[in-house]
Amino acid sequence: MRLFFTLLTLVAAQAAPPEDAAYQQGELLYHAAGCVGCHSVPGLPHLGGGRDNPTVFGTFYAPNISPNVEQGIGSWTEGDFYTAMRDGRAPDGRLYWPTFPTMAYTKMSDADIHALWVYVSAQPAVVSEERAHEPRRIYSLPGMLNIWRLMEFRPGPMTTDPSQSAEWSRGEYLVQAVTYCDQCHTPRSKIGRMKRGRYMAGGANLGKLEIHPNLTPHPEAGIGAWSEDDMVRFLTTGEKPDGTRAREDWVMHEKVKDSYSRLSEEDKRAIYAYLRTLPADDFDPEARWGDEAAP
Ligand code: HEC
Ligand code: HEC
Repeated sequence: MRLFFTLLTLVAAQAAPPEDAAYQQGELLYHAAGCVGCHSVPGLPHLGGGRDNPTVFGTFYAPNISPNVEQGIGSWTEGDFYTAMRDGRAPDGRLYWPTFPTMAYTKMSDADIHALWVYVSAQPAVVSEERAHEPRRIYSLPGMLNIWRLMEFRPGPMTTDPSQSAEWSRGEYLVQAVTYCDQCHTPRSKIGRMKRGRYMAGGANLGKLEIHPNLTPHPEAGIGAWSEDDMVRFLTTGEKPDGTRAREDWVMHEKVKDSYSRLSEEDKRAIYAYLRTLPADDFDPEARWGDEAAP
């Protein structure tokens, strides 16, 4: 009997309690989903925000999301956090600017949103310098965000095509809900609507003068010539098959270093498996926006 209880205690000590697993999953997601890039800027307090995000719609500053009651989300319930992620809305009902990529995060599973909450709400409260957003005047007119949202926001969680493999569905989930590759790599109209007919055919952020290459399997315009190992290497080190690297002054370099390199190898392969099945598109974002993006 005694031995039995000793064994039981040992087993209990080894199996991590579920909240611990959620914390670790939350920490991984905080990085993989890119929260870190906007809300934990090097040299500024962790979760204190401060990243400036220049876009053609204006410049938007990531706020403090630490458990600080005045500046952060210290007074929030898990329900408030859920509404922010799933519905892109603050506890007082205000709609968030789409620089907070809620078009993607709305698609996350309940379990992943819960994990992020467990991680974020367990971090120390920090004080940070607050900065007001600077939207271009036309976009700050009352109702503009509502109109844009009606056209563009599709509330989640996401559903997948049951005829596809588990690997493909995992890739689809990562690309659309977590790592939001599609938000950058899909062309947009002047008012920022994603051109879904040219999904992943390449985009640009003219606010930062960056071109986002075509990721469809087109052999010349896209990444049709990339092997699965090429993709794993790129998402781990930033090195492309031709030996060049993602430019250090453009966002993909930072995304690889701080976010995507942390994904498991299976996840990187799943992303490749999903991208592989998209329609090949000959769109050339460089030809479309290269002149406008030239410094
Ligand atoms: C590209 C930059 C960017 C990324 C990536 C990002 N955020 Fe944010 N976040 C923002 C901006 C900008 C706002 C402010 C939006 C507004 O005020 O309308 C914001 C707002 C928030 C808020 C609301 C804070 C409040 O006081 O109302 C929460 C919570 C939040 N982000 C959590 C996250 C989490 C969790 C992640 C990762 C899963 C994440 N963010 C990723 C830029 C980002
Ligand atoms: C915030 C915007 C952004 C996000 C999100 C993003 N990328 Fe990128 N990506 C870029 C930019 C900018 C470049 C160009 C970098 C360069 O070539 O120097 C790029 C380049 C690439 C390239 C190189 C293609 C080529 O032909 O040179 C690949 C592959 C790639 N990204 C895959 C991904 C994948 C997969 C994801 C999601 C896991 C992703 N990207 C998410 C902005 C983004």
